[in-house]
Amino acid sequence: MAEGTRHRGTTDPVLVIIPTYNERDNLTPLLKRLHTALPEAHALVVDDGSPDGTGEVADKLAGDDDRVHVLHRTDKAGLGAAYIAGFRWALDRGYATLVEMDADGSHAPEDLPRLLDALTDADLVIGSRYVPGGALVNWPRKRQALSRLANLYSRLALGVRVHDITAGFRAYRHRVLDTLALDEIASQGYCFQIDLTWRTAEAGFRVLEVPITFTERELGESKMNGAIIGEALIKVAQWACTRRRAQLRRNPTVRRLLRR
Ligand code: GDD
Ligand code: MN
Repeated sequence: MAEGTRHRGTTDPVLVIIPTYNERDNLTPLLKRLHTALPEAHALVVDDGSPDGTGEVADKLAGDDDRVHVLHRTDKAGLGAAYIAGFRWALDRGYATLVEMDADGSHAPEDLPRLLDALTDADLVIGSRYVPGGALVNWPRKRQALSRLANLYSRLALGVRVHDITAGFRAYRHRVLDTLALDEIASQGYCFQIDLTWRTAEAGFRVLEVPITFTERELGESKMNGAIIGEALIKVAQWACTRRRAQLRRNPTVRRLLRR
């Protein structure tokens, strides 16, 4: 890895993975902000064949800047699948830190140095809207309610003590994603974030939340839909059952009963 890709301490070199679907007007200003905040970070745009030409914008940016890379996928296959492809790309190239960030400006690249600093004491750092100091700007009430409900539901079902389990602004250490069985992750939509948080915590890695301000996008549209909510409801319930079964199997009384 070239010296130019380094951040600092144990967290370098850094790759910021940015999934895109119809984010043409957001990408250029976002990458500019990213490289002002973190000049040495690399970026990987994972585009699912956006019909609005986001892929071409990304190619142009990559042609002009060695720090920018593009992964083109043919079909819109969901946020989860895009991230898994991005993680594989990054692990193959030895990046020490893998960051997840939305393309629409909701996550401020200026917050990244703080996330990366926190990673020196953690394996996963989540940029959280729901810890003291975290905030939401211009997010519709309906989305706020949905997000709060998703967090409550996931927390109760999975017992993971994270306040913003669906957050999409995160920094992972290489070793976490290298350890988790990425092949087994089938989450397509935003429940991918819940899935990875749960797996990371279950594997015994240290998860930390740092406050961020989430600002609703000004350009383009959210890809949230009913299918994404439905997938999350079902998947979280399935994981809760798996977790409960494993807990029961570890219980001495249940083990005695099973042996009879
Ligand atoms: N490649 C690819 N393929 N990218 C996608 C896809 C897809 O199928 N679906 C969404 N994206 C990209 C968007 O282009 C954007 O960069 C990012 O994923 C987030 O999508 P949005 O549609 O902007 O998400 P949101 O603002 O409604 O949701 C936010 O809140 C969720 C719940 O807390 C995001 O921060 C999510 O990450 C978060 O899970
Ligand atoms: Mn968004």
